[in-house]
Amino acid sequence: MKLIYVLGNGQLGQMLKQAGEPLGIKVMFINKNTKSLIKFFDAITIETENWPKNIITQTLIKNPLFFNYNAIICLTDRLTQKKFLDQLKMPNVKWIYLSKKKTLKDAFQKLGKRLILKKRTGGYNGLYQKFIEKENVENNKQDYQQYIFEKKVDFIEEISLIGARSKNNHIVSYPITYNFHENSMLRASISFKKTNKNIQNQSENILKTIMNQLKYVGVMVIEFFLIDFNTLLINEIAPRVHNSGHWTQNGASISQFELHLRAILDYPMYNPTICYDYSVMINLIGIDFNMLWINQSSVHLHWYSKKTFKGRKVGHLNIVDNNYLRLCKTLKNLQKNLPNNYASSIEWLIKKIILHNKF
Ligand SMILES: Nc1ncnc2c1ncn2[C@@H]1O[C@H](COP(=O)(O)OP(=O)(O)OP(=O)(O)O)[C@@H](O)[C@H]1O
Ligand SMILES: [Mg+2]
Repeated sequence: MKLIYVLGNGQLGQMLKQAGEPLGIKVMFINKNTKSLIKFFDAITIETENWPKNIITQTLIKNPLFFNYNAIICLTDRLTQKKFLDQLKMPNVKWIYLSKKKTLKDAFQKLGKRLILKKRTGGYNGLYQKFIEKENVENNKQDYQQYIFEKKVDFIEEISLIGARSKNNHIVSYPITYNFHENSMLRASISFKKTNKNIQNQSENILKTIMNQLKYVGVMVIEFFLIDFNTLLINEIAPRVHNSGHWTQNGASISQFELHLRAILDYPMYNPTICYDYSVMINLIGIDFNMLWINQSSVHLHWYSKKTFKGRKVGHLNIVDNNYLRLCKTLKNLQKNLPNNYASSIEWLIKKIILHNKF
């Protein structure tokens, strides 16, 4: 039996644990209260870049079995991530860091009138981010050293690519995923078996370059903005499994969670088979459990058993199908058992499904 320690103990960690069970891989979590470890283990990995800091985790980061430590440190700070992407000449949203000598004026000068202020570390689901418009702001001299500024880009789509690299440089990935955000939070995703070859190739080449440069082992996810039908810009990189890859649990022969475990344990790795023409994921956010969600056979519930509060991700639904009309009907039925604020996600999904069938 293999034993893997995961830093953090949220739902991503729980789903790594679930994926390990059929393969005889035991996954244990390290949280802020962990006082001791089992002596022999096979790998240490993360489920969050903001893992609890204590004596145990400080010791573990020096252990050679901790995968991707340097890569994680580089990618976790938006400033070092941006510098790294620029060095590699990767297509990337324009940005600026305001050192003590610079002011907002410099940011507007470099990036234009509409900006996003993003905290360098610790943000998720749009936390610690602020939209800034030149017209509405005074050119103050506040210190911004804990932040970077990005140009607010106009995009036609948000997409992500989930892939993995093995120790001997074998790289695999899934078809791209299209993502729908509201208030900077991921609400729904969809992936098609028949992928857009051009965007797929572009994004795979970017992922390969980044993973090879970092000698990365395991699952990595890149979030992109699609600026026009041919142009991708990197939004950010996650050195771990990711919410936009949850559809792989029911839509692919190997889920992103299993793929990550396979990569870090050096188990066989191959391109996962995509089982359905359409794989959809809907995040369940701040709502109570409802068994009626699973009254249709193509709907799969993943419930995190966490206390529900406003804005908290408490589960997700994966919906898979080969028939697009049936899938649209399933989504419409599902809406009847979801609050009204899910209507925009369902509408977006149905539009994407219909559009996909036109080409
Ligand atoms: N430069 C930008 N221009 C336009 N929209 C943006 C930009 N940066 C972020 N956004 C919007 O805000 C969302 C969240 O931003 P980002 O991915 O940087 O934050 P995050 O807090 O790390 O999110 P998560 O951890 O959920 O991926 C993006 O998915 C996008 O919808
Ligand atoms: Mg993001």
